[in-house]
Amino acid sequence: MQISDESALELSSPEQGLEAPPSVVRRGLDLRSRRLRTTHRLVLYVAGVPTLALISVGIIVTATGSAAREVVIGVLILGMALTVATGVVVTSILLQREARLARLQSEFVSRVSHDLRTPLTSIRMFVETLQLGRAQDPETTAECLDALGRESERLLSLVDRLLDWARIESASRLYEARRCTANTVLDEALQSVDSLRRQYDVTFVKEYTEGLPDIEVDAKAIVDALTNVLQNAVYYADAPRMVWIRTHVVGAMLEVAVADNGPGVPERERKKIFEKFYRGSAARSQGIKGTGLGLTMVRAIVNAHRGEVRVEANEPRGSVFVLSLPLADTPR
Ligand SMILES: Nc1ncnc2c1ncn2[C@@H]1O[C@H](COP(=O)(O)OP(=O)(O)O)[C@@H](O)[C@H]1O
Ligand SMILES: [Mg+2]
Repeated sequence: MQISDESALELSSPEQGLEAPPSVVRRGLDLRSRRLRTTHRLVLYVAGVPTLALISVGIIVTATGSAAREVVIGVLILGMALTVATGVVVTSILLQREARLARLQSEFVSRVSHDLRTPLTSIRMFVETLQLGRAQDPETTAECLDALGRESERLLSLVDRLLDWARIESASRLYEARRCTANTVLDEALQSVDSLRRQYDVTFVKEYTEGLPDIEVDAKAIVDALTNVLQNAVYYADAPRMVWIRTHVVGAMLEVAVADNGPGVPERERKKIFEKFYRGSAARSQGIKGTGLGLTMVRAIVNAHRGEVRVEANEPRGSVFVLSLPLADTPR
């Protein structure tokens, strides 16, 4: 996902720009998903059907065999057939999982290429406006420069996110846990979503007080994780948008909960939303943009701190994302 000077130049022709390579990647992934589904079907027919026949033979021989030797042979046939059946089931689950991942990856590639194209297209448009001298007064020039700043910021944050993801995926992100005050970490995360909060007109309710206990974490990573969860809460909340931030000490952990008044996460999706590239029904029904990587990153960061992340239902509606973070050993 590198943007080289060459690809930036290519953008001057929209048909050739970023669209070409991702669609090739996407076709490749679609093909892989189709092949995996075919292999899955083959495994079921080629190994599944004879295994079922073998199980039936095993049952018949065991049930009808009169001599001890026949019963032993029947049991052996059954044992062998059950071993093969276990193999078929495991292979089938793995193939299904791989096919799903390839499909999700393919959707991810087209979403990311689209998300990269949007700010790049705006940047090119504003640059052209300036180059052709269409911005005739200082006010319009300032507006163009403002927009250029905003769009490049957007591009940078998307690329940063992808690089962060790549580091987490390759397990090369290093965490330096240090003692820090939970209030500082929470305030920093809230600060990082402040402009988004204003843009979406969301009311944040802080249901915790000053003087929270110290936690032992890599502050930057935890701020990233909380920022992700807060961003989701802002995007998914329903008007009038409300987000609550709560804290509880549970054993040796500080639980930080972010609740919203959105549609919530249906029970059947509560595990899947932490998987990479997965986007749930709320994202589809409300047409919310995203990569499906946010919660996967949150989980990776929190797990690396020996903590956990879970999602629950909020009352009367919405979702609650709870992150548990290790408390620092002894009070300062
Ligand atoms: N606050 C929330 N309310 C409802 N659904 C949510 C919320 N946060 C996340 N989700 C669901 O979890 C999915 C995965 O979230 P995430 O990993 O952040 O990816 P993205 O936001 O890019 O779709 C979303 O597509 C959405 O279905
Ligand atoms: Mg998200």
